Amino acid sequence: MSPDPDLMIEARGLHKHFGDVRALDGLDLTAEAGQVFAILGPNGAGKTTFIRAISTLTRFDSGSLSVCGIDVARHPKQVRRAIGLAGQYAAVEPALTGRENLRMVARLFGHDASTATRAADIVLEQLGLTDAGDRLVRTYSGGMQRRLDLGAGLVGAPRLLLLDEPTTGLDPRSRNDLWLAIEDLAARGTDVILTTQ
Ligand SMILES: Nc1ncnc2c1ncn2[C@@H]1O[C@H](COP(=O)(O)OP(=O)(O)OP(=O)(O)O)[C@@H](O)[C@H]1O
Ligand SMILES: [Mg+2]
Repeated sequence: MSPDPDLMIEARGLHKHFGDVRALDGLDLTAEAGQVFAILGPNGAGKTTFIRAISTLTRFDSGSLSVCGIDVARHPKQVRRAIGLAGQYAAVEPALTGRENLRMVARLFGHDASTATRAADIVLEQLGLTDAGDRLVRTYSGGMQRRLDLGAGLVGAPRLLLLDEPTTGLDPRSRNDLWLAIEDLAARGTDVILTTQ
């Protein structure tokens, strides 16, 4: 069966075990493109494992998984080009500015210097960080760092953004800001998959 391009995610009978632990035990899940899709579950439910499988960081044992119509096991490189990822823990470099962080990630995506600068500016604007863009990230509040993390996932202009517990450690106000930023992204046509407890 070939993957359906109208589905942002198509998982069939997905299994992943770590020793005796069955992190994914025959997961069947489909989600249509064009939305924000939330995965809810308690600690240890397998959310991060699933996000890591989608992002090609973890190899699953059996079953099939496709993302935006791309088979993850067969075409991992293509999948990596289609997605952006913000993991459960912040992955930004505190000794660089917000703008430098985003530029660096854009360069890692293969953009030349001027395209990277432009992409960084756009993302700073999208996330309301333009004014803080030239400050070192270690001076950012937790919520600002989280937003920058989201930005690092976006700067490669992915079709699909994966967010593992994006609101962890945020106060209600920052949480709200983050939801607004996510809604805004979705309205501009980025599909989003996020996990939350
Ligand atoms: N690299 C690993 N080695 C061994 N066990 C692992 C590994 N990664 C995950 N597990 C186990 O797989 C299960 C699912 O873990 P996972 O991190 O996917 O859960 P989660 O839903 O993201 O939980 P949380 O809400 O705490 O982030 C847990 O029992 C965990 O201990
Ligand atoms: Mg997790």
